This record gives sequence, C-alpha cells and structure tokens, in this order.
Amino acid sequence: MSLSSRPKIELHLHLEGAAPPAFIRGLAKEKNADIGRIFDERGHYAYNGFPEFLRVYEAATSVLTTPEDYARLTRAVLAECAEHGVIYAETFVSPDFCGGRDVAAWREYLHAMQEAAAEAERADGIILRGIVTCIRHFGPEKARETARCAAETAGDWIVGFGIGGDEMAGKPGDFAWSFDMAREAGLRLTAHAGEWGGAQSVRDTLDDLRVERIGHGVQAIDDLALVDRLAEDGVVLEVCPGSNIALGVYPRWRDHPIHRLRERGVKVTVSTDDPPFFHTTMSHEYDMLAEVFDWDDGVFEDIERTSAEAAFCDKDTREALLKRLAGR
Ligand code: ADE
Ligand code: ZN
Repeated sequence: MSLSSRPKIELHLHLEGAAPPAFIRGLAKEKNADIGRIFDERGHYAYNGFPEFLRVYEAATSVLTTPEDYARLTRAVLAECAEHGVIYAETFVSPDFCGGRDVAAWREYLHAMQEAAAEAERADGIILRGIVTCIRHFGPEKARETARCAAETAGDWIVGFGIGGDEMAGKPGDFAWSFDMAREAGLRLTAHAGEWGGAQSVRDTLDDLRVERIGHGVQAIDDLALVDRLAEDGVVLEVCPGSNIALGVYPRWRDHPIHRLRERGVKVTVSTDDPPFFHTTMSHEYDMLAEVFDWDDGVFEDIERTSAEAAFCDKDTREALLKRLAGR
C-alpha cells in the first residue's frame, strides 16, 4: 500500500496552524485587514525561529473573527487532511481566538466547527474531535477562563484539554488549577512539553498536570530514566518530526529521536502540528520516516493502532477506527 493512501490518525493538529496561506490571504482581503508581512515572495508563511513563528501564527489567526470563518477553516483543513488519508483527527481549538474566552460566544464558534466537521464526515468519512487548548504565554489566569469554557462544553466532541504556546513562559505547575478543572469535567489531558523546555519540562508536566499524552515530548531522549518512565507508564507522545525540523529543534531528520524513543518502548504517534507552516502533510511525514528510518508497513500499522488506542474519542468511535485500520 502506498504511504499516501494508508489510513492515518492525527492526534496533534492546531486548527489555525493548519490554515492554508491562501485561505488566510483571501480572508484578509475580504475583510480589508492588515496582517503585516507574514508571507514570503512565494506566498508561504515567513518566520525565523519559534518566537517569530508564534507571532506570525497569531497575526494569521487575527483574520478569523467569526464562527463562519471557523466553519470555513474547518472545511478547508479537513478536505486537506482527507486527501492524505487521514480518517480521524483531533484538533486544538482555543477559546482565546474564538470569542475571547466568553462561554456563550465560544459555544457559537464550537457549533460552527462541529457542523463543518459533520459535513466533512458525511462527504469524506473523516472524523474530527476537539481539544480545548490554553496558550501558555497568555498566562494562568486566561488559562483558567479557557478551562471554564472547556468544562462547560465537554462532551462527545470536545474530548480533551491541553496547553500550547511558548513553553519557556511560566512553569507547568502554574496551570495545574486549569488541568484539575478539565479533569474533573471528564476531559482527557495532553500538554505540549519537551519541544523547547528539555526533559525537565516533560517531568514537571507529568508530575504537576498529570496528563496521559505529551505534545512533542521528544527532548525526553536526553534523559533515559525519563524515557523509561514514559515507556513504563504508557505515556503517549504526539510526535511531529517535520515541525521539529522546520523550527530547528533538530537540525536534520536523521537526528530526530522518534526512532530511538520507539525502540526503547515509548508509545509514539505521528502528526503534522501546523502543516502549511512547516511545508508538510501526513503523507510527507510518512514518506520521510520510511526513507530516513527505514520504517515499513509493520511499523506504520503499529503507529496507527497506537494512535487509535490513544485517541480521546469514545469507545464506539475507537472501535470503528480500529476496524477501519484492520479491514484495509
Ligand atoms: N502552537 C502552534 N504550534 C505550536 C508548537 N509547535 N508549539 C507550541 N505551541 C504551538
Ligand atoms: Zn503543537
């Protein structure tokens, strides 16, 4: 089976980060909005390093101002995912960008995204679920408001709670209140860690936020006792190799630790993070992993099963996914 047609499961995808540049340009034009110089001469997102990436991300996101904009974005993103064989995705969505953390406004954005996702499911069979995500550099108080939005809308579609943004801003423990609130509301938990903050950031996140998945987590490789803890505890890493290469966490694909983590027993999964920012797709991630680490169908099958098992969806959806994976 060619890698692009393999049925894939993507657990780490930022909705705004998946916006095609042409989509953002089109919306900026419609709204006569000045978003500054965030594109290069070929029309791609232009940034230099992680802090600037975050600024460009937020500038692009500033044109998404209504629930209808998010419905259109959801349609565009899911059409692209489905083209690369994705059958199930979990996307990070942030009340910060969707109504300024006001619960009533958040519900309207959410409704728009869910409707668009249901349409895509009918058209392409792709299933989407949402993970409400606070943004670390916006601070713990805003994260508490975000957690309230998450708790109010927890259910079949909003299935998780997480945190992204600048990993060097504050400590994981600053956000414990928000994660406790989300856990009590029945949400499953993930957090970005070990992308920039080193192995200690992964340790602190596990200890203070008690998450079952880690976004990235790749810098755990610098502390083999931690790697063994991840393996023993069955913590799932949402690994985004192309993102790590594009942002300079690792200089070359062959330096990326995904293969070593897997060999040492860690449950790794594969995602794109913010695909157009990093010039990647799920098919491209698969192609690179096959080429650089010699991964074969058996490895990809194992990764896909791990991803289905680690998905935050309900039992029936998981069983349907496992069936789709087994029945190919
Ligand atoms: N938000 C979008 N992409 C991100 C990344 N790679 N790390 C942290 N926050 C993000
Ligand atoms: Zn991310």
